[in-house]
Amino acid sequence: MSKKMWGGRFTTETDALAAGFHSSISFDCRLARVDIMGSIAHARMLGKTGIISAEDSEKIISGLKGILADIDAGAVSFSEQDEDIHMNVERLLTERIGDAGKRLHTGRSRNDQVALDVRMFLLEACDSLTALCRELMGVLADIASDNLSTIMPAYTHLQKAQPTTLAHHLMAYAEMLRRDCVRFGNARAAANMMPLGSGALCATTYPLDRHMVAQELGFDDITPNSMDAVADRDCVLDFIYACAVCAMHLSRLSEEIVLWSTGEFGFISLSDAYSTGSSIMPQKKNPDMAALIRVKTGRVYGDLIALLTVMKGLPLAYNKDMQEDKEALFDAYDTLAACLPVMSGMLRTAEWRKDNMRAAAGRGFTTATDAADYLVRKGLPFRAAHEVVGRLVLYCEQHGKALTDLSLAELKQMSELFSEDVYDALSLEACVQRRAVPGGPSVQSVQNHIDLIRGFLAQK
Ligand code: ARG
Repeated sequence: MSKKMWGGRFTTETDALAAGFHSSISFDCRLARVDIMGSIAHARMLGKTGIISAEDSEKIISGLKGILADIDAGAVSFSEQDEDIHMNVERLLTERIGDAGKRLHTGRSRNDQVALDVRMFLLEACDSLTALCRELMGVLADIASDNLSTIMPAYTHLQKAQPTTLAHHLMAYAEMLRRDCVRFGNARAAANMMPLGSGALCATTYPLDRHMVAQELGFDDITPNSMDAVADRDCVLDFIYACAVCAMHLSRLSEEIVLWSTGEFGFISLSDAYSTGSSIMPQKKNPDMAALIRVKTGRVYGDLIALLTVMKGLPLAYNKDMQEDKEALFDAYDTLAACLPVMSGMLRTAEWRKDNMRAAAGRGFTTATDAADYLVRKGLPFRAAHEVVGRLVLYCEQHGKALTDLSLAELKQMSELFSEDVYDALSLEACVQRRAVPGGPSVQSVQNHIDLIRGFLAQK
């Protein structure tokens, strides 16, 4: 007979190559704590319902607590022979407390056990990434509060388009992160169902109290179909998708930071503490943190596609393929948990080159839309005003001038409607302040958005 826990029907040991290939302990050891917490809840319920004796239940619980303490102390080494975290813990337990340990797995399968562990991991992962998103939102709101009147150019097609403020621009990212928090909340809600009691796939003959286990572990509900419960990884996909979107947001901000820290833009000066040098070019100060955050998005996309592909076409219920869910899950979590605080620190310590932003906003005809709107206010239809200002821009380009460099006589050549008040009307401040609709860049509109975000951050 094989020495494996499932060895009863086997006559030969697993080939060493096959055993190594099959084993998941090298990565699922990370689930040790949630696995043991789940087993403690299961054992307590088995005792309470009389499925095992109260004495065995207590022995199991204290044995598991001891194992957890030893794992935390680094005093436990897992074995590849025991395949995964579930069987490693069970083996350790039985070694320590004898036969009572062999009763822990009553009414349970590794299939519902691993589903439980993954869901418990997800609940914590959603909470911790949400907290990191909220921290970054706070950093953005702080910078925005200090820069409600800091003029900068806004771009479409990476061409200067209209003037805005640094506050308006950065609060766009705060809004993305608010949605990320909502997505992590949704992934959390999807994970918040307790699968134990599903057994291998068709539940169990023992009268388990599933609600008791759910309550003990802090789940709001139990899964309603045992086959789905052991075959489902939707909540993991929801989570990795939320990670992927959040990483995508960070990559866009990173790209802007890389651009803004070039000599050509010169909008931001990153702290030395968040920059790196070149081994050959002495002058270099590279925005490597931003570049790394930008690239790590690809890993998270890879994790999402990997798990979608794991699940594609799998027949019900559990299949060994699903063991491959965990590395994608852990990698998406680790990647984002590393990126978010670096982004927060990099922004918190950066200096904003307000003069350069303002000067850049003054170039590239960013007030051309406002010039057209000026003529509309004087009675010209918008399409005609667009045409007049288009010709003005062409004239300016031919003469190397900005709109506000033109004399009133030059302006009047294009339209009699121009008068002295045009110069004030086309100041960068006036152009920003006039965009006072909710959602716009005016000081009050952005202040309202900051208040909204701060209200969101104040909620638990
Ligand atoms: N290590 C396995 C996994 O991660 C646990 C479930 C094993 N179930 C089984 N029937 N072999 O998916």
